[in-house]
Amino acid sequence: MANPESYYRADLARIHHLGFGFHAEACAPGILALLEPVRGGLVVELGCGSGLLTRHLVDAGHAVIATDASPSMLDLAREHAVGAQEIRQLVLPDDPIPEADAIVSVGHSLNYLPTADAIDRALISAARSLRPRGVFAIDLCDLTYVEAQHVPDVKTWIEDDWSLITRRSAPTQDTFVREMTMFTRNDDGTWRRDDERHDNVLIDTSHVPPLLAEHGVDATVGSAFGSEKLPDGLHTIIGTRRREGPSG
Ligand SMILES: C[S@@+](CC[C@H](N)C(=O)[O-])C[C@H]1O[C@@H](n2cnc3c(N)ncnc32)[C@H](O)[C@@H]1O
Repeated sequence: MANPESYYRADLARIHHLGFGFHAEACAPGILALLEPVRGGLVVELGCGSGLLTRHLVDAGHAVIATDASPSMLDLAREHAVGAQEIRQLVLPDDPIPEADAIVSVGHSLNYLPTADAIDRALISAARSLRPRGVFAIDLCDLTYVEAQHVPDVKTWIEDDWSLITRRSAPTQDTFVREMTMFTRNDDGTWRRDDERHDNVLIDTSHVPPLLAEHGVDATVGSAFGSEKLPDGLHTIIGTRRREGPSG
C-alpha cells in the first residue's frame, strides 16, 4: 500500500493540473449552487489537489481551507488558488478536519484511502466537523465504477511536454488500480520518467447515507452535483447537517 503522501509526486501533480482539470471544472457550478445557503461561512475542501475547484470557490467569494495529502499538489494549489484562507496538508482519515460550514471534495479523493473502514472513518470525521445546517458535497467511486468504465484498459495521452500511459485493472471487486508511467520534458529538451501506482478502494455508496445519518448528516446518493454529466459509477453524496452542533 502506498504512503498517501507519495501519491501525486511532482510530475504527476503537474500532469493532473495541466491535463485533468475537466472534472473539477464540470463539478464547480453545481457545488457553488449547493454552497449558496452557507455563503459567508467556512468551506473546507478535502483532497483539493492542485486547487482546480478551490479556485472556483475562492473566485465565488467563499472563505476556503483547502487540504490534501500530497505536498506537490499543495504547492500547485498555492499558486493556482490565490486568496484561499489556508492551503495545508491534511491526511485522511486521521488528521483532524477543521470545523466548517461546508465540506466539499471532488475527484474521488476518499477512494484513495487504504480500506473501506478508513473511508468510513473519514466520512464520519467529515460529518462531525460540520456546523449545524452545514453542507456536505463529495463524490465517491461506487462498486459499479469498474464495470461502467470497462476496466481493464490502457490509455495514452501525448502532449508537447508530457505524456502519460495508464494501465487500469480491477484485481478484486472492490479495488481499482491505475499503474501510470509518465514522461516529462526537461528544460534542456531531454525527458525524464516517473511511475506511480494508485490503489483505489471502491465502496457500496448506498451505505454512506445511513452512516452519515448516525453522525448528524442527512444525505442522499446521486449522479451529479448540478447539471454536469459525471462518469457512470462515480456518485455524489450530498447532504446537510442537522441543527444540533458538530459533536452531535
Ligand atoms: C484524483 S485527485 C483529485 C484532485 C482534485 N480534487 C481534483 O479534482 O482535481 C485525488 C486527490 O486525493 C488526494 N489524496 C489521496 N490520498 C489522500 C489522503 N489520505 N488524504 C487526503 N488527500 C488524499 C491526492 O493527493 C489527490 O490530490
